[in-house]
Amino acid sequence: MMFLSSCGRPEIRSGSGLGRAGLHVARLMAGLAVGLIVLTGSAHAQAQAPAKVDPAKGQQKAAEVCAACHGADGNSASPANPKLAAQHADYLTKQLRNFKVQPGAKEAERANAVMAGFAATLSDEDMRNLSAWFASQKLKPAAARNKDTVELGQKIYRGGIAAKSVAACAGCHSPNGAGIPAQYPRLGGQFAEYTEAQLVAFRQGARKNSAQMSAIAARLSDAEIKAVSDYIAGLR
Ligand code: HEC
Ligand code: HEC
Repeated sequence: MMFLSSCGRPEIRSGSGLGRAGLHVARLMAGLAVGLIVLTGSAHAQAQAPAKVDPAKGQQKAAEVCAACHGADGNSASPANPKLAAQHADYLTKQLRNFKVQPGAKEAERANAVMAGFAATLSDEDMRNLSAWFASQKLKPAAARNKDTVELGQKIYRGGIAAKSVAACAGCHSPNGAGIPAQYPRLGGQFAEYTEAQLVAFRQGARKNSAQMSAIAARLSDAEIKAVSDYIAGLR
């Protein structure tokens, strides 16, 4: 009893006594924490300051240079030119860099005569501004056109081709074709002709900026490429 009560009282007292000191320490810590957050926050902002992306500048340049082929808002009117609207900005920037022959390299990682010319004139800042502009635009949906192959296309997209060790496209490009930023591009709603051309380019090696896609395309037949490309156009 004695033990309990003598132990109980000081506990209560020291509890309230320490409470004040504790509160003080807690306030101090909180102040420090806020200070640290502010400090690291500003250091972070400073490190990123030169990289500030300006979609309005991108919009202007897009209207001047890219609109003729890709549409001012990235909804290209011709299947020869891919739609860029709503594509992930980081993916677009990567492609623009890949179209450029990098110092020391013999050829671009993504060989294309038309885009090589345009990419060569763009600074890294231009590329990021343009990418931010097109990424912020709304994609106009499209539709699959070939009823006879849509089932095969869907099967490949959703489940891959087990017998050929082709992984499901949906696994990386997401079930609705929206992709997964920043690594996996949006495919849904793209012109079937363009998607088909890219899969062939990966297979042939004209486009060698993705080991993953080269390995996948190498295992696809022409008929499989056509079917999955048409199915992808209808994804949204
Ligand atoms: C004369 C037409 C033309 C113009 C102008 C043009 N492009 Fe392209 N662009 C193309 C074609 C064709 C392709 C497809 C290239 C391929 O098959 O690899 C393409 C592909 C691209 C891609 C790759 C898209 C993807 O899904 O991988 C990006 C990004 C791109 N263009 C951005 C731009 C930007 C930014 C501009 C303006 C600075 C521009 N293009 C101007 C014709 C054009
Ligand atoms: C393991 C992940 C993965 C799987 C599975 C995959 N892809 Fe890809 N795919 C990628 C990556 C990464 C890229 C971007 C390559 C780059 O950076 O240029 C890409 C790019 C593409 C492109 C180019 C898009 C454009 O705008 O130019 C097409 C088309 C494509 N994939 C189709 C497919 C199809 C069809 C399948 C299924 C048969 C598939 N992918 C399965 C990872 C994958």
